[in-house]
Amino acid sequence: MLSAQQIKDYAQNGYLVLPDFKAPAELAAIKQRAEEIAARHDINTHKTIFSTDQQRQDNVDLEQDYFLGSANQVRCFLEEKAFDAHGELLHPLARSINKIGHALHDLDPVFEVFSHGEKLAALASDLGLNDPQIWQSMYIFKQPFIGGKVDWHQDGSFFQTDPLTVTTFWFAVDDATLENGCLWVQEGGQNSPLRQVFTREGNHTSLTTIDTTPWPEMSAAKPVEVKAGSLVCFHGKLPHYSAENTSDTPRHAYTLHVTDGRSDYAVENWIQRGQDFPVRGFI
Ligand code: FE2
Repeated sequence: MLSAQQIKDYAQNGYLVLPDFKAPAELAAIKQRAEEIAARHDINTHKTIFSTDQQRQDNVDLEQDYFLGSANQVRCFLEEKAFDAHGELLHPLARSINKIGHALHDLDPVFEVFSHGEKLAALASDLGLNDPQIWQSMYIFKQPFIGGKVDWHQDGSFFQTDPLTVTTFWFAVDDATLENGCLWVQEGGQNSPLRQVFTREGNHTSLTTIDTTPWPEMSAAKPVEVKAGSLVCFHGKLPHYSAENTSDTPRHAYTLHVTDGRSDYAVENWIQRGQDFPVRGFI
């Protein structure tokens, strides 16, 4: 699947862009499906309105339950800037959804097809994932004008394994540009330490700093502008972020987070699978 040069580039840079990995029809299928799921979202199941401290706390608890429950479900999340001060949507619902997560790849038939197959299995093998396990999928809308920034982070913080093997598969559903909030990476940054870990204990989650190495200077950030259909693969320790979408067009993307089954998956990770819903690979 990959050439020797591509494998070398991935090892050196911590990421690899594969243009035209997905065909327009495949992209159209998941885009349509995501928009159908978003349109069905009941706004009242996930609305942030509070006037007292108790309501605020109740709401935090509800939000946490909603988030944790999404690990093995298909749930919609709204943009932070979706509501006005009175809790009313500022934009139509279809333009207010931030993302859908986190088990689309196993539970939704359209996403299931998109997320599996020989081509992805061969790619995973070339990237060193001998026993790929897909733990999470997210459909990210990055809405026009209100699509929020995602700060510097490493995906390995959310999928701890020993040794660290998590690899991100980031599919551009639309062209990703400087204006609509493309990815930015620190080329070669996969050799820096893992800075934070996101852990779950019961219903409590926390993001803990385990290494104080600073995030890269902005001058070290490299934009990854790609055309729709491109697949960006990156290493779990590669620092990356994406800027706000200030443009008038959406920047849809779909991601998979995949570990190698030969590494030990931490019990502290927020996504766990039981025997009734086992983690699967690309086939
Ligand atoms: Fe990420």
